[in-house]
Amino acid sequence: MKLKKNILCIGAGYVGGPSMAMIAYKCPDYRVTVVDINGDRIDAWNSDNLPVYEPGLEKIVKKTRGNNLFFRKDIENQIKENDIIFVSVNTPTKTYGAGADMAADLQYVEKTARQILKYSRSSKIVIEKSTLPVKTALAIEKILSSSKGRIKFDVLSNPEFMAEGTAVKDLENPDRVLIGSRETKSALNARNQLIEIYARWIPLKKIITSNIWSSELSKLVANAFLAQRVSSINSISALCEKTDADITEVAKAVGMDSRIGDKFLKAGIGFGGSCFKKDILNLAYLCEYYGLNEVASYWKSVIKINQYQQDRFIANILHRMFGTLAGKKICIWGFAFKADTSDTRESPAIYVAKKLIAEQAEIIISDPQAMKNAVSDLADSKGTIRYVEDPYEAASGCHAILILTDWDLYRKMDFRKIYRSMVKPAFIFDGRNIIEREKCFDIGFNVYSIGKSALSHI
Ligand code: UDX
Ligand code: UDX
Repeated sequence: MKLKKNILCIGAGYVGGPSMAMIAYKCPDYRVTVVDINGDRIDAWNSDNLPVYEPGLEKIVKKTRGNNLFFRKDIENQIKENDIIFVSVNTPTKTYGAGADMAADLQYVEKTARQILKYSRSSKIVIEKSTLPVKTALAIEKILSSSKGRIKFDVLSNPEFMAEGTAVKDLENPDRVLIGSRETKSALNARNQLIEIYARWIPLKKIITSNIWSSELSKLVANAFLAQRVSSINSISALCEKTDADITEVAKAVGMDSRIGDKFLKAGIGFGGSCFKKDILNLAYLCEYYGLNEVASYWKSVIKINQYQQDRFIANILHRMFGTLAGKKICIWGFAFKADTSDTRESPAIYVAKKLIAEQAEIIISDPQAMKNAVSDLADSKGTIRYVEDPYEAASGCHAILILTDWDLYRKMDFRKIYRSMVKPAFIFDGRNIIEREKCFDIGFNVYSIGKSALSHI
């Protein structure tokens, strides 16, 4: 079979890997290659133990790998051989110099652009897949046009909106695909080539185009709006706990207004993940850069509430457990930043665990997928930490259970059996509002949820 397009992706992370696997799966006649500077990651993508846990991902990787999907280490060679190059390298928050703790660190994007320039022998379409500050495409264009007059590069913006845990579903059936481009003939031709790829499985009406800056900005704004909804509902959860209103009932009543909508209104211990905080800080930095200080402080308040929610959760544990955690055994169910992923980046569980260690509690961590990441996240913490895969065994002998990730598994536990195995009085702090709280209260637990009145025997 003649392969119609050669596609390369630089960056084999949570975004690059799954999104390229989906293109390979949907377009069996395209050859899709993914490279990464981290050779171990490439080895993992080529093994039975994929570096990313996503429901459904293993199936599509197994079907395509070695046929039309390849994970490789020879970056230079692959740049030469492919004409369509996605850039999906990481853009963490800068930790140094101007804009430290706010701006996106663009060093990897820039290095990648220089690499593309250096090894290209023919014209290329370069596609920003990473989330980037508005106007980054301009910098990429400037680097790419800095030499080699005859080779032409067209830069497109094609941000990825999929969420972890539902990546395969989101990639297969996205709400929209956004492609930003310049208006030149060659850029529009490049845009059409990208549309052609997505049109293989996505209806044309869902593939939208815009100018390149709108596209870059839309991704930051979409994440900011989503995070803002989580902070909005979390801020109201604090008020519910003071007034005996119930956050689930309030969210339902509010969300049924079709102008508001019912998604992303689940109160909890706050949002985590590699994107929300980073992207809001980046948005706020852009606003400050352009002198829009009021706009910047509006968005920063979303992060403030997120931090407040985690601090509130910890303060409540301390208060309910008689003001001291020293020497007490606290079981943490769930370390991933959300269910159905092994990812722990910016997971509230890291912060909570460190605070408990500072209170000299002994912590026992359990998670169905994120144990390896949890171990490395807490590697520098000097405290008593145990990692126990089985959630029953983890809770046994503990004073309290904290539910920090909304894994389905925790809804279905035998709480009677667990209660019997714990130190009394036994506490549950449900940071995700997923358990049947009245049932647990009747069993004998003292139950504290987010945005609901306490169910306490003491
Ligand atoms: C996400 C999003 O894609 C992006 O929008 C956001 O800006 C950063 O985080 P993700 O795939 O989750 O990216 O990041 P990560 O899992 O860290 O993957 C990035 C990969 O790029 C890593 O495997 C890293 O080794 C690789 N990389 C980084 C390169 O191949 N070359 C580089 O120069 C730098
Ligand atoms: C997010 C965006 O949803 C996605 O479009 C973008 O491409 C990347 O960033 P992700 O971070 O993977 O995706 O997960 P998401 O489902 O958005 O959850 C983020 C955090 O918010 C999680 O910690 C989750 O638990 C929390 N959350 C989400 C809530 O606390 N309540 C909600 O109602 C929804």
